[in-house]
Amino acid sequence: MMENMIIAPTRIEPARIEGEIDFGLAEAALSLAQAAGRLGAGLPPATLAQVAAMIRVMNSYYSNRIEGNNTRPREIEAALAGTFDEDPRRRALQQEGAAHVRLQAEIDRRAAMGVLEDPSSPDFIRWLHREFYRDVDSSALVIREGDSGKEGRIVMVPGEWREGDVEVGDHVPPPHDRLPAFMEYFHTRFRQDRLHGQVAKILAVATAHHRMNYIHPFYDGNGRVSRLMSHAMAHQAGIGTGGLWSVSRGLARGIAGGVPGREEYKEMMRLADRIRQGDRDGRGNLSLQALTRFAVWFLGTCRDQVAFMGGLLDFAGMGERLARYAAARDFRAGGAELLRAVLIRGRVERGDVAAVLGVAPRTARAVIKELTDDGILGSETPRSALELRFPSQTHEMLFPRLFEG
Ligand SMILES: Nc1ncnc2c1ncn2[C@@H]1O[C@H](COP(=O)(O)OP(=O)(O)O)[C@@H](O)[C@H]1O
Ligand SMILES: [Mg+2]
Repeated sequence: MMENMIIAPTRIEPARIEGEIDFGLAEAALSLAQAAGRLGAGLPPATLAQVAAMIRVMNSYYSNRIEGNNTRPREIEAALAGTFDEDPRRRALQQEGAAHVRLQAEIDRRAAMGVLEDPSSPDFIRWLHREFYRDVDSSALVIREGDSGKEGRIVMVPGEWREGDVEVGDHVPPPHDRLPAFMEYFHTRFRQDRLHGQVAKILAVATAHHRMNYIHPFYDGNGRVSRLMSHAMAHQAGIGTGGLWSVSRGLARGIAGGVPGREEYKEMMRLADRIRQGDRDGRGNLSLQALTRFAVWFLGTCRDQVAFMGGLLDFAGMGERLARYAAARDFRAGGAELLRAVLIRGRVERGDVAAVLGVAPRTARAVIKELTDDGILGSETPRSALELRFPSQTHEMLFPRLFEG
C-alpha cells in the first residue's frame, strides 16, 4: 500500500519561516543585513572588484573542500589559466574548482547588471549544474562503475535531475520520479516575487539552502550547486555586496571555526531534516523549530563572514598590510608608495606613475615592471591603468586567515 502512495512535494514544508518569527532569528537577519550594507565602504570600486575576484577563488576552495576536494587556491588559479596537473584525478578536481569560480563570476556579473534570474527556478538550478560540469572530464560524471559489462553503471547527465534514488547520510530524499514536482513546488515557495520584503528574502536564503539539499535533485553536485544558488539568493536579498563575501567559508568553518566547526554544517543540515515534533512545532511535515535553529545558525555563519571580511577590508589595515607586503618582497624604492597610491585611487594610469612618485619615467617603468611581474599590480590590457591584484601568493599577507583550515 505504501508504495502506491503519492509523495507530495508539500513534504518540504515548512519551506519558509513565515508569520510570527523567533526573536533570535530576526536579530540574525538584521545584523547580517547591517553588516553587509557597510562592507567595503572604505575602498575604491576597482580594488573591490579585485577583492570579489579573489573571494570567488576562496568560495570555490571552501565549497569544494566541504565535499572533500582539497584543491588549493594556487591550483584553482592554475586551472583558470588553463594549466592542469598530470594526474587525472587532481585534474578533475581542479576543473571543478575552476568551474565554481567561473559560475560565480557569471552570477556576480548578472547581479551587477540587474539581470540575475530567479535562483530558485528549476531552469536556473539546472543551468548551474550543467555549467558546473560542462568542462569536467567525463570520469567525474560516473556515479557508479557497475559490474562487468555496463550492468548497473550510473553516469550523471549535467543539468538533469537524477534518474535513481539516493541517500544522504540518514536522510532519504524524494524518489527520482517526483523530482520535477518537488522542484516546481520548491520554486513556487521561493520565487522572488512571492518573497515580500528584505527579511523574507534573507530568511529564504537560509531555508532554501536546506530544502534544496533535502530534495537532493542531482546524483552529485547538490552541495556546490546549492551554495552557488545561495550566493545568488544573497544577491537577490540585497546582502550580496558585490560578491565581497560568500557563504562557503562560513559553512565550512561553522561558528566555532577550526576542526570542531567543520562538523557544524552537516549536523545542522541533519537537524533540519527532522520531522515535526508534536503540535507546537509548526504545521508542516518537517520541524519548524529545527528549521528555525538551522536558519539562525546559517545566518550567523554568514554574519561572521561578513564581519571577518569587513575587518580585512578596513582601509588603514589594508594599507599597512600592503606596506608589509612590499617590504617582504623587497621591492625597489617607490614600490610601496605606488601600491599606496593605487590603494587610495583604485586605478593609476601608467603615464602618471612618474609624477606620483616624483621620479624619472625610466625609474617609474622599472617600478611598474617589478610590481606587475610580481602580480600585485595588473591591468586589463598591457597599457591600461594599474590596479591591485590579489593572486594566491598575496593571500597570506594581505588577507590573513582567509584561507586557514
Ligand atoms: N542530512 C542532510 N540533509 C540534507 N542535505 C544534506 C545532509 N547532509 C549533507 N547534505 C548536503 O548534501 C551535500 C552533498 O551532496 P552532493 O550531491 O555530494 O554535493 P557535492 O557533490 O557538491 O558534494 C552537502 O554539501 C550538504 O549540503
Ligand atoms: Mg558529492
